[in-house]
Amino acid sequence: MLRCMKQREFGKTGLRVSVLGLGAGQVGAESLDDREAGRLLNRALDLGVTLIDTARGYGLSEERVGRHLAGRRDEFVLSTKGGYGVEGVEDWTPGAIRHGIERALRTMRTDRIDLFHLHSCPLGTLRREDLLAELDRAREAGLIRVAAYSGENEALAWVAESGRFGSVETSVNVADQWSLHHVLPEAAARGLGVIAKRPIANAAWQFTERPVGQYAEVYWERLRALRLDPGGLEWDEFALRFSAFAPGVSSAIVGTARVENLERNAAIVERGPLPADLLAQIGAAWTEHGGEWGGEV
Ligand SMILES: NC(=O)c1ccc[n+]([C@@H]2O[C@H](COP(=O)([O-])OP(=O)(O)OC[C@H]3O[C@@H](n4cnc5c(N)ncnc54)[C@H](OP(=O)(O)O)[C@@H]3O)[C@@H](O)[C@H]2O)c1
Repeated sequence: MLRCMKQREFGKTGLRVSVLGLGAGQVGAESLDDREAGRLLNRALDLGVTLIDTARGYGLSEERVGRHLAGRRDEFVLSTKGGYGVEGVEDWTPGAIRHGIERALRTMRTDRIDLFHLHSCPLGTLRREDLLAELDRAREAGLIRVAAYSGENEALAWVAESGRFGSVETSVNVADQWSLHHVLPEAAARGLGVIAKRPIANAAWQFTERPVGQYAEVYWERLRALRLDPGGLEWDEFALRFSAFAPGVSSAIVGTARVENLERNAAIVERGPLPADLLAQIGAAWTEHGGEWGGEV
């Protein structure tokens, strides 16, 4: 059993997380066999992955994390998201946060959530004192350890400066560097933990035709404009070594439903940051084309 994956401090939260985390969005798909989901989740922990990221909105994901990992709860940092999706309760109200946390605890068969993110709500919602106070109460009651936000752009920038959150989750990849340049320096200076989501740009390089209407479409377009050359590396390695070692990033949560890709990603992060010439190329391409590109939720 390989358990040597590099771990990092998660800001000033007192938690530590592996450089590669597991984005458990794909684990929630009904098309994924439940035994296979269990194999993937357990394999992640066996490989030394100590951050699992899920959400209320990821289909069967929270349920499967509970079913397959409840017995190993002390081995990982559990991240989820909410603010919505509680039966009989209006979204983005204190009740949606409180009952959402209680519901997530039951679903995931645990007595604590390490990171609870407000899931991509706009700035106006984020600033509401009634919602922030409810997060504080959940933290004081020990139901959640860190109040967090998952999102982009001006809302994310406000969160980093607000002093009300302990960590953030944001898009960081070769085709999405807004947060990297505009928020992560401030977040790091203030001791926030930072999770890089969409860290391999949804593997957009794999599409020969524009993936119309798919999540990867914007990144596919950006990659065409950036004209990056991964040198002698495979694209997944090029993309992941960039995001996992980007300044300020604590953990890069690649999403996958496949054990082979999980194992491949674990091997990739062992190779460390990209060489300086590739980083310089990515930086120059971003400067030329990326100035107007915001973060993609
Ligand atoms: N608003 C939000 O809060 C938000 C938004 C987006 C994402 N997230 C979080 O971030 C996680 C990751 O984001 P994401 O899944 O959108 O993007 P991503 O991690 O950049 O890309 C995931 C895609 O890459 C493929 N893949 C994984 N490893 C690969 C490899 N070595 N080679 C080739 N393809 C590979 C996966 O397919 P296979 O399944 O076939 O491996 C999947 O289609 C999500 O699971 C979720 O936890 C949060």
